Amino acid sequence: MNESQERARYGAAALAHLKGQLPNPFPRTMGPNAMSYLQEVVDSGLTGDLVGRFEQAFAAALGVKHCVATPGCTPALALLAAALPGEPGDEIIVSPITDYGTLQGLFRQGFIPVFADAAPGTVNVCVETIAPLITDRTRAILCVHKTGLVCDMDPINELAARHGLFVYEDACQAVLSTYRGRVAGTLGRAAGFSFDSEKTLGSDVGGCVVTDEDALAERLRFLGHSRGGLHKAGYGRVHTEPGYALRMTQSTAAITLAQLEILPENVAQRDRMARLLTCLVNEIPGVCALPIPDYQEVYSCWMFGITLDSEQFACGVASFADQLAEAGIPGAGMGAYYLIPEACTFLDEYAVARRFPFSQPPADRVYRYGPQNTPTAAAFLQRFIRWSTFCEKYTEEHCRLTAQIIGAVADANRV
Ligand SMILES: Cc1ncc(COP(=O)(O)O)c(C=O)c1O
Repeated sequence: MNESQERARYGAAALAHLKGQLPNPFPRTMGPNAMSYLQEVVDSGLTGDLVGRFEQAFAAALGVKHCVATPGCTPALALLAAALPGEPGDEIIVSPITDYGTLQGLFRQGFIPVFADAAPGTVNVCVETIAPLITDRTRAILCVHKTGLVCDMDPINELAARHGLFVYEDACQAVLSTYRGRVAGTLGRAAGFSFDSEKTLGSDVGGCVVTDEDALAERLRFLGHSRGGLHKAGYGRVHTEPGYALRMTQSTAAITLAQLEILPENVAQRDRMARLLTCLVNEIPGVCALPIPDYQEVYSCWMFGITLDSEQFACGVASFADQLAEAGIPGAGMGAYYLIPEACTFLDEYAVARRFPFSQPPADRVYRYGPQNTPTAAAFLQRFIRWSTFCEKYTEEHCRLTAQIIGAVADANRV
């Protein structure tokens, strides 16, 4: 770290300095039973199975057979990466506009990330951008439902089935979003969720994997909860694989269970307000809200995003965003750093130096990472402004005020 750098901050600490006329998700609205569930953890002398209860309740809410709780989505996806078919040096096709947590496990597992471009005009990948990237080394496709907007999964699943690829979802930002009547997280063979304090199901740094597959769920528990350990009669634990200790704590489970009870109303409000705000914003010339696809019945909107037609404004996009924040939209800013092939600077460094996993035999392919991998996504993010402070506290009045602020900033900067 040099003097101009500081450690990244997360959760309430990351948003503490924000002021504005619109809601800030912190302090979070807590489920009324949070205290009694926490009390159970204490009163039971740590014998209560809040983790098991949460896992059952979340699986039921999604209509899946298994939920395996973890300490976050980064570990959830790391666990899935450890359970994926394939060897170090194999390729996984992944969304480029996302969070580091999508990538961490892939890279640590020795998989080579191959970034599919975003579909034009949005933040998500699509079958057309994925298909040309499939090679003999591709093992899986990891789709991120960015902001809560769901990728068009049916064509992606059909493509994957033709090539024998494992499809899974990073549904961190899309809890209870739906796609053609099915809920995000059930659209591939498995999915990771985050219950980080900022997320829609905001708890205390938690996450999980969901899947309908018995064998996969068992393998995730073996690798992630049992640390790759088996009990051998007359001896004790033997570790037959290098597993992890990625268990959720009982107290996190207690809070997450209580938060899950208020999730449906929270998501319904986000959906209503995101749709209203989308209509209001789209009336402002030169400004366009992220499009909500017709196939998505519920938009569990975690962050609200707009794009600018730069030619209509005299100021740059960064300045437009600053003016929005100044005028009262807390946290408005460009999300350029979501472009992971560029923001994860270690990727290109390792690829150029042929460090593991790029050294993995046959090591005959050249990989480079940067905005050039996904030009549509890179160009899109140059016009994109978002605020992750969008939350269930928004009312119609807040939506009208937001649109008013955007309209006023737009008018003040028109060419
Ligand atoms: C799309 C996405 N993937 C993964 C993560 C990582 O989740 P966690 O913070 O629970 O590890 C996040 C968190 O911001 C995310 O937004």
